[in-house]
Amino acid sequence: MLENRQRISKKTSNQSAVAHYGADVLDSKGHKRCKKFIQHGNTNVRQHTTSVAYMAVAIARKTHLKYDYSALVRGALLHDYFLYDWHEPHHGLHGYTHASKALENAAADFAISPIEADIIKKHMWPLNIKPPRYREAIIVTIADKICSTKEVFGKPIYDKKIEEILNEHK
Ligand SMILES: [Fe+2]
Ligand SMILES: [Fe+2]
Repeated sequence: MLENRQRISKKTSNQSAVAHYGADVLDSKGHKRCKKFIQHGNTNVRQHTTSVAYMAVAIARKTHLKYDYSALVRGALLHDYFLYDWHEPHHGLHGYTHASKALENAAADFAISPIEADIIKKHMWPLNIKPPRYREAIIVTIADKICSTKEVFGKPIYDKKIEEILNEHK
């Protein structure tokens, strides 16, 4: 697990790292279903989670530490895999409950590693009290907050690069 940590070669773009490590999740029916659900503003959950994966890779590389990039990308892609429209009134506690729901769904559809589970389960920290255990999960909580804030204010990081990743996995 921790032995999978490495650095990514300078020649690899953030975009191709997401496309490479996230391929099976991006190609899955379940992740494609996330298109149906709006996350913030005009950004749907598939676009949001792909943006978070991209941002997480970008931040991780800046720290020059080693990461399990497969877990980082897959965990980011699945962190909001709750598969319902959270704007419906009966999902009132969504902020507190969706991380557990996302983990339950992810574990049913994919083989989830302990780091990936930590990323998904703890991404709402500090709203959900238990702090992340792995550095990959800390990076995703930061990336998620940056992307979410930008989406709420109508300036999503979802752009051509993210669109290209998703177009490769239609
Ligand atoms: Fe979330
Ligand atoms: Fe999120």
